[in-house]
Amino acid sequence: MTEPAFAHQPVLLKESIAALNIRPGGFYIDTTFGRGGHSRAILDQLNEHGRLLALDQDPHAVDCGRKSFEGENRIEIVHCNFSQVANVVAERGMVNRVEGILMDLGVSSPQLDDAARGFSFLRSGPLDMRMNTGQGEPAMHWLARVGLNELMLVLKKYGEEKSARRIAHAIIEARNSQDITDTAQLADIIVRAVPHYEKHKHPATRSFQAIRIFINRELQVLEQGLQAAVSVLAINGRLAVISFHSLEDRIVKRFMRAMASEPRLPAGLPVMSRPEAVPCRLVGKPRVATAAELMTNPRARSARLRVLERVQ
Ligand SMILES: C[S@@+](CC[C@H](N)C(=O)[O-])C[C@H]1O[C@@H](n2cnc3c(N)ncnc32)[C@H](O)[C@@H]1O
Repeated sequence: MTEPAFAHQPVLLKESIAALNIRPGGFYIDTTFGRGGHSRAILDQLNEHGRLLALDQDPHAVDCGRKSFEGENRIEIVHCNFSQVANVVAERGMVNRVEGILMDLGVSSPQLDDAARGFSFLRSGPLDMRMNTGQGEPAMHWLARVGLNELMLVLKKYGEEKSARRIAHAIIEARNSQDITDTAQLADIIVRAVPHYEKHKHPATRSFQAIRIFINRELQVLEQGLQAAVSVLAINGRLAVISFHSLEDRIVKRFMRAMASEPRLPAGLPVMSRPEAVPCRLVGKPRVATAAELMTNPRARSARLRVLERVQ
């Protein structure tokens, strides 16, 4: 399938690139390449000595990126999960030399729009939902074997779904008479279980989000990715993270605050540095999209940018 090179409209583009405080000859990482919107903007700020390492766990994103950035030798695009970023950086001898790292979390518009990927409840397609199609279990296989309690827990925890019990029951019951293999089929089961209760929100939104987060282990790899990213930053290097829902943002906020806080010791004791701590500071307040961006990019609605800087 062919698609426009930049079918994904980058979110908080100006703000995130400004937050990275780019030095033209520096080494930067875009850990969530997608269709390369942010990568392109980083490259625009680099001179011929600057380098950009781009990662994506989606093999299709990597293939598209290598084609659309062909001939651009300041960028290297690597297929991997950002939880592995420290290893990729170590292999390139760049530990403590990375001047900026960007994480633009979640799925891209091309992933959502391609029915064959199984992310969208608005299109009929195979219930897959894996960002890395070469690894892990497609959602339909998990739904075929999951027990009621685990399903309920996933819907509640990762979708903050109030009707988790009703939806889980409906899925397990439907499973007795049919294999659930299609996104539209799952959406239909959910709509029948909870016809309409949240204004302006499709009844399947939260369940699809929950299953996607679970299948891709998104929150676990986010924690690993944040730690790995900070561990390779240069002094004055920055980590900029764009999150799209409260579960992600909570993890980013707590992580950054903990990294920026002084070690808490009983009064009277000398202040010591935490073992393995990388001293950091928070840069500015969290940023959200401007009204102008929201007019042209509804995906930016829930986006939040947080920035951390290594200080020593
Ligand atoms: C929101 S999109 C990024 C869009 C990109 N900034 C752009 O302007 O085109 C997120 C991308 O990150 C990838 N991704 C999500 N989680 C990842 C992870 N843990 N490791 C590597 N890539 C990940 C997804 O496959 C998707 O392509």
